[in-house]
Amino acid sequence: MEPPSGPSRRRCVPWKRLLLAASLLTFWTLPTTTQLSIETVPPLAAEGSNVLLLAHNMTEKTLCYFWYRGESEETIKLIASYTVATNLITTGPAHSGRETLYPNGTLLIQNVTQKDTGSYTLLILKFDLKAGQTGHLYVHHPVAWPSLQASNTTVAEHEGSVVLTCLTDETGVSICWCFEGQSLLLTRGMTLSLDNSTLTIDPVSRKDAGDYQCEVSNRANSSKSDPLRLHVKCK
Ligand SMILES: *[C@@H]1O[C@H](CO)[C@@H](O)[C@H](O)[C@H]1NC(C)=O
Ligand SMILES: *[C@@H]1O[C@H](CO)[C@@H](O)[C@H](O)[C@H]1NC(C)=O
Ligand SMILES: *[C@@H]1O[C@H](CO)[C@@H](O)[C@H](O)[C@H]1NC(C)=O
Ligand SMILES: *[C@@H]1O[C@H](CO)[C@@H](O)[C@H](O)[C@H]1NC(C)=O
Ligand SMILES: *[C@@H]1O[C@H](CO)[C@@H](O)[C@H](O)[C@H]1NC(C)=O
Ligand SMILES: *[C@@H]1O[C@H](CO)[C@@H](O)[C@H](O)[C@H]1NC(C)=O
Repeated sequence: MEPPSGPSRRRCVPWKRLLLAASLLTFWTLPTTTQLSIETVPPLAAEGSNVLLLAHNMTEKTLCYFWYRGESEETIKLIASYTVATNLITTGPAHSGRETLYPNGTLLIQNVTQKDTGSYTLLILKFDLKAGQTGHLYVHHPVAWPSLQASNTTVAEHEGSVVLTCLTDETGVSICWCFEGQSLLLTRGMTLSLDNSTLTIDPVSRKDAGDYQCEVSNRANSSKSDPLRLHVKCK
């Protein structure tokens, strides 16, 4: 432990030396006076993207900070620490090589994978205070490429009908349709199934001829099918 040299002399120690202290202080309480908060940008990330865990309201009196994987300060889960006085960043056992700690307390995680989903805790040490705040990250898998199928790609105007089906293995996604690269405006004769996975055009008019695509989205990512061309035979 530190010598009793008074709070103003308190300094940050390397994480290895902190091990002892940390094991004695596995839990801390968040003082209600601190407004420290963590904002995850984006909170729902697609696999492969970069994420920022922004530390808001870091005060100037901070001596050093520590980012941990999870919700407690276990040394084995330390990602990195920063000592203000020496401007020194030290990586910890939980550093994967993709994390960058900025001097303002913000943590950048690059090229996230689903395994990065979880909680991250920022611990700050001040002269007379120790405070922590936890942020959360959710990493979605990228949406698999959907394909588009038509009951018939060449139909006779005013007589024929066509059913377009968006084929996807994804669940819990939303589906939207594009016509000629633009979001499809439903016109007379067009109906969508409840889940938007099928588009029925009955009867087909010459205005319906062109390229159709379906786009499948989850909350973090989306994927569009190849265009499928509908030909309309005019009489
Ligand atoms: C920063 O702290 C103030 C109060 O001290 C609070 O009103 C504000 O919401 C906090 N900002 C963030 C981004 O948490
Ligand atoms: C901290 O610095 C990083 C890198 O310069 C920046 O992207 C981020 O927005 C900053 N965080 C805050 C809370 O301003
Ligand atoms: C991102 O991570 C994957 C493995 O998870 C790897 O194959 C890929 O090369 C990485 N991309 C970058 C730009 O680092
Ligand atoms: C497709 O539509 C055309 C014109 O309406 C029709 O002649 C043809 O039989 C249809 N093909 C199939 C496989 O239904
Ligand atoms: C169906 O598509 C419409 C827009 O075309 C969209 O507003 C709606 O949210 C979609 N519904 C589902 C379940 O995907
Ligand atoms: C979906 O995720 C993949 C892989 O991470 C990425 O290449 C693509 O740009 C993302 N698409 C959107 C619309 O975010």
